Amino acid sequence: MKTNISITALLLTIFFVGCGTGKKQTQNNMTEQKVDSVLALMTLDEKIGQMTQYAVSWDLTGPPSNMDDKEKLDKIKRGMVGSMLKVVSVKATRETQRLVMGNSRLKIPMIFGYDVIHGFKTIFPVPLGESASWDLKMIRKSAEIAAKEASAAGINWTFAPMLDVSRDARWGRIMEGAGEDPYLGSMIAVARVKGFQGDDLSNDKTIAACAKHFAGYGFAEAGMDYNTVNVGIHELHNAILPPFKAAAKAGVATFMNSFNEIDGIPSTGNRNLQRDILKGDWNWNGFIVSDWGSIVEMINHGYAKDKKHAAEIAVKAGCDMDMESYAYNPDLKTLVEEGKVPIDLIDDAVRRILRIKFDLGLFDDPYKYCNEEREKDEIYTKENLKLAREVAKRSIVLLKNDGRILPLEKKGKTIAVIGPLADDKDSPLGNWRAQGVKNSAVSLLEGIKKAVGENTKIIYAKGCDLTISTLKEEENQFLMPIKFNTTDRSGFPEAIRAARKADVVIMAIGEDAYQTGEGRSQVSIELKGLQTELLKAVYKVNKNIVVVLMNGRPLSLKWESENIPAILECWLLGSESGNAIADVLFGDYNPSGKLPVSFPYSVGQEPLYYNHKNTGRPFNPEHVTYTGYRDSPKTALYPFGFGLSYTDFEYSNLKTDRSTMKANETALVTVDVKNTGERDGEEVIQLYIHDVMGSLTRPVRELKGFQKIFLKAGETKTVSFKIDRSSLEFYTASNKWEVEPGDFEIFVGGDSKTEMKVLLTVEK
Ligand code: NOJ
Repeated sequence: MKTNISITALLLTIFFVGCGTGKKQTQNNMTEQKVDSVLALMTLDEKIGQMTQYAVSWDLTGPPSNMDDKEKLDKIKRGMVGSMLKVVSVKATRETQRLVMGNSRLKIPMIFGYDVIHGFKTIFPVPLGESASWDLKMIRKSAEIAAKEASAAGINWTFAPMLDVSRDARWGRIMEGAGEDPYLGSMIAVARVKGFQGDDLSNDKTIAACAKHFAGYGFAEAGMDYNTVNVGIHELHNAILPPFKAAAKAGVATFMNSFNEIDGIPSTGNRNLQRDILKGDWNWNGFIVSDWGSIVEMINHGYAKDKKHAAEIAVKAGCDMDMESYAYNPDLKTLVEEGKVPIDLIDDAVRRILRIKFDLGLFDDPYKYCNEEREKDEIYTKENLKLAREVAKRSIVLLKNDGRILPLEKKGKTIAVIGPLADDKDSPLGNWRAQGVKNSAVSLLEGIKKAVGENTKIIYAKGCDLTISTLKEEENQFLMPIKFNTTDRSGFPEAIRAARKADVVIMAIGEDAYQTGEGRSQVSIELKGLQTELLKAVYKVNKNIVVVLMNGRPLSLKWESENIPAILECWLLGSESGNAIADVLFGDYNPSGKLPVSFPYSVGQEPLYYNHKNTGRPFNPEHVTYTGYRDSPKTALYPFGFGLSYTDFEYSNLKTDRSTMKANETALVTVDVKNTGERDGEEVIQLYIHDVMGSLTRPVRELKGFQKIFLKAGETKTVSFKIDRSSLEFYTASNKWEVEPGDFEIFVGGDSKTEMKVLLTVEK
């Protein structure tokens, strides 16, 4: 159909249809009618255009494309591009939208996507770090601020949250997710989706979220990015899919598929995942975007013979939008004309894309996110930074505090601040920092100086560099070779002198911003370069050391855990890093974070996760031929859910209101938690279940509930958890979500190793 329709006529049509629906019909029905009315006007070329996404440049997230900007520009004008990524700022998005609105036949507004992963310009902790807060309210709030800032700069779609459950510290992208647990991951998924999207996508301060990467990307063999994934259907449903299902249920607008293959089928071409499960069983009606070039990568996978074949596989599998594969355009048209791809599939994809554009309100006002005033006033504000500090301090995990060396006094001491990360204003921003400005974070040294009183002496010594790199600037993070072979010990003497003079040493060590993230897998996870050597040299002259770790993945810290009295896990905390760490160091905030991922003794234990299976030979320290290692403990050095406080919590009186129940009934589990110390503090009370026997083997424990509560010194609270179908069911041998009758052990405590338990029996 080659109707020459003007924008006014189009909007009138939509308006007319909208009015015609009457008051009784729901908003959703109206949207459907509007979508259909637009679809009816579209040519095949225009439909395929909506299914196409281009990047404005190709220096950030993938291999160079071979299409030049001029050709892209021409396509945009002809309405042949539904979305752009990495077009940022009011000016740039307005200009681009204008090209569409001023030139294309149907004037279908473009949607602008961007990787707003942990903040836009105000940078929050990397997602793994933020997840350590177990604070769903704050996590939601940080996504809300990220959306507010991004939407003030023309962006209306983020490629976040990343929901890949990840059990392998070697995998560089572990930093982008919520860690190793599907339940915690699901709760955080919902918090982040709601934070980005709010309750109303058409609000100009909210943006569409994207659940990624669907699916299995975090299970890459050997923790190597993009690698093969081999999991069975039950592991897929029980361990990998729950956060995605939760996000779909929470109404996430879009999904992104993943680079990896899973059981021989690349996710991008996986019909079972995308059509059957997501769009079918879960009845989800948003759209799926491919990952960068992942359609065409199916050729390398050995799953498609050429680009056209890849396009056919992807669209049939349910991938609605092509990010930078240049496959849908031009190949889909021929595929439809040849009768290889039914037009219904194209219509379904376009309908999904238009629906989100309507939900965002773009048809009402294509420039609604282009507001110069907002861009000036709402980004990187004092208020946003204040929240970033709140979130950051809640994300810190106290791993060790022998002799209660922490918190430190603010007055009258000499403090040596040593280490390559001590005065680093850039690393805390982490990878995927969107518009975060280089060197804009508050460094630890700055934070400490601001926090202490007049008569505290601070001596700073860097000691050594973290890494040396052949590139000076990281403008192109994907080209930066990382090297760890710094051999320059010339800063050691100064660091040792500083340590000698000090009452206490704060050692800032860990990883730099780009050691984690996409393509940043490592075979070793100990402190790189000369850091351990420096730490040991300092330790020789002053044992009063607080190690402040900054990192995006679990590290192996055996020596440190045995010798250093205090260890604070501070991740990469974002813009307010130094202030937040100082809040904890000096006791203005009592640490409350808990690990969202296990820390191993050694990399050889990876993948390491608390919710493993028992095996036929559960670990037995007295026998050799049991599951374990000869040269290392089998367990974690710091387990999932672990984190100390400056006060102590005592658990007692764990009970259930019943010892038996039916699958459709509920039981109430209660426990008393007392703050037995002298400081107020927060504790994350965690509930785990163990399904003792099943039609499939079950994990030794699974997190099924948690509550973060505040207790005044000396205060006791009774905390209750409801146990129902959702706590007990799993994807069983019959390939269904079922509760199987039998015994369940219910553990409650302050981490995944708690031994406090009650029994509950589910009867037939
Ligand atoms: C590739 C990454 O895997 C994905 O997470 C990201 O959103 C896209 N590039 C776009 O930058």
